Amino acid sequence: MNVVAKSTNLSPFLKAATTVVSNGPLRVSSGIGASFLAVQRRLAHTDIKWPDFSDYRQESVLDPKSKSRKSAPARKTFSYVITAGAGICGAYTAKSIVHNLVSTLSASADVLALAKIEVKLDNIPEGKSAVFKWRGKPVFIRHRSAKEISKEAEVDVASLRDPETDSARVKEPKWLVVLGVCTHLGCVPIANAGDFGGYYCPCHGSHYDASGRIRKGPAPLNLEVPYYEFLDENTLIIG
Ligand code: FES
Repeated sequence: MNVVAKSTNLSPFLKAATTVVSNGPLRVSSGIGASFLAVQRRLAHTDIKWPDFSDYRQESVLDPKSKSRKSAPARKTFSYVITAGAGICGAYTAKSIVHNLVSTLSASADVLALAKIEVKLDNIPEGKSAVFKWRGKPVFIRHRSAKEISKEAEVDVASLRDPETDSARVKEPKWLVVLGVCTHLGCVPIANAGDFGGYYCPCHGSHYDASGRIRKGPAPLNLEVPYYEFLDENTLIIG
């Protein structure tokens, strides 16, 4: 900013500090007041060369005389494309983050490998109950005799605490598959024991029958039946 001062208005001190610039009026360029004015002049930044961004601007806006309305559709399209692209990238990034986060919470490969177990049934003699470990829990597989099957089928369902027919709890009458976890407080019952010849939980005295149904004691529910399927006559897959 050039500051022009009339010589008549200048104090004697300031007059002494001024310099006459050729071809014009007096300009303050030195002295006490001039230092302030000179600072003002520098703050104007008129001497800074601004970089030319023309190479990066759209052609439609290069001409400063053309109306912005004319280039609006092109500019809007550009903005929409950039916004949509950023939105898609953002959504993909968010999906990846969520996917990675959730996969860290899911079961590891070694746990998943144990998610299913295969049991050879011909190793379990009739009348016996075998225990297998599945997902950290005991699973009872009982090879029921014809006598046990008919006895459980005849039980009056209305008399049960947790009413369930025997046929609803087994896929093959001679094979009973239940979790070996007492439904009272989670103890592991003993097979072939108790008043009903099925399972007996010694913790608080719950008696289950040979269909895993609660018949006596504090347990509120029948032993849980896990998901299982027969691969063939002698092979069972649990899980
Ligand atoms: S835990 Fe089985 S009876 Fe209490």
